[in-house]
Amino acid sequence: MPDKEFIAADVNPTIENGSVSWEAPSNIALVKYWGKKENQIPANPSLSFTLKNCKTTTKLNYVKVTEAHQNSEEITFEVIFEGVKKESFKPKIASFFKRILPYCAYLKHFRFEIISENSFPHSSGIASSASGMSALALCVMSLEKSLFPEMSDDFFNKKASFLARLGSGSAGRSIKGNMVVWGEHKDVLLSSDYYGIEYPLKTNAVFKDYQDTILLVDKGIKQVSSTVGHDLMHGHPFAEARFKQANDHLSELIPAFADADLETFIKIVESEALSLHSMMMSSDPYFLLMKPNTLALIHKIWEKREQSGIPVCFTLDAGANVHMLYPSANKEEILEFVKNELVVYCENGHYICDEVGEGAKML
Ligand code: PMV
Repeated sequence: MPDKEFIAADVNPTIENGSVSWEAPSNIALVKYWGKKENQIPANPSLSFTLKNCKTTTKLNYVKVTEAHQNSEEITFEVIFEGVKKESFKPKIASFFKRILPYCAYLKHFRFEIISENSFPHSSGIASSASGMSALALCVMSLEKSLFPEMSDDFFNKKASFLARLGSGSAGRSIKGNMVVWGEHKDVLLSSDYYGIEYPLKTNAVFKDYQDTILLVDKGIKQVSSTVGHDLMHGHPFAEARFKQANDHLSELIPAFADADLETFIKIVESEALSLHSMMMSSDPYFLLMKPNTLALIHKIWEKREQSGIPVCFTLDAGANVHMLYPSANKEEILEFVKNELVVYCENGHYICDEVGEGAKML
């Protein structure tokens, strides 16, 4: 099994209690992950910008329990989110612990308190599973490192991404900075279906601080979860063509990143967003996550690009919000454009200014 290297020895810890905190970012996919095999293995490779400002901060408190209180199947924990005890978050975290237990058997010796908060508004329609699961996975890895101090930084990051991926696929791309590839791809050496790696190929400086202004069209909870969406790719009539397209798109992006070929970058990134949503529209049952204002914003962005020559483009995640991407050199003019022409399409005029970031940080 290729994941064998991540199975930690089942030691009886000498540590009685402790606490660790991590801050982990969200990410926005340029090549989208949509469709998976068993055990959170992606059907195609994906590539993302790591964000800087949209992040989750998590503190993990742990206390050793007596043998009588240990359960090798289930971990005991409480969740406090933004100051409030959250029972509703527990099932997702319980299933995360269950999935990672074969790789982190030492967890059963402890009970946990997970204290978490997001930098972005809870009801912004921005998925917090990527930043939330990666922050928690990093906390678990810090505990593992205190039990196995000889572990290398490279292994720490790889396993953190491996664990985060088991919580939420895209969370595996929220450990390291700038750009991350997750899923095996023929042109990206050392890429893996099991964890994300920092994009290892030549990247022009323009992409190091690329801007992402997130236009909040709909702050509600998505009507169709990504879990359901991924599932609908099984037996989807266009699935195989879509998985091939994602692989081809990643290949085409490689020279575009090296040469700052923004025309190709824009063409691929927008095509990926529309392909993702066209998969949703053509699945059985079909569904639609874009809203009228999503389309209005896409047309405004196209119009702006046409008229000003600024290389501004859009991408979408599994929701109605629009991520507007552009080089930092155009920041001033684009933020004026947002204030003057785009806020009317945003729910309560809300948007978030973000940019490419460096990855997770231990606090
Ligand atoms: O990580 P999940 O299972 O929530 O899936 C994320 C799917 C997209 O955001 C639509 C695409 C991606 O690659 O992030």
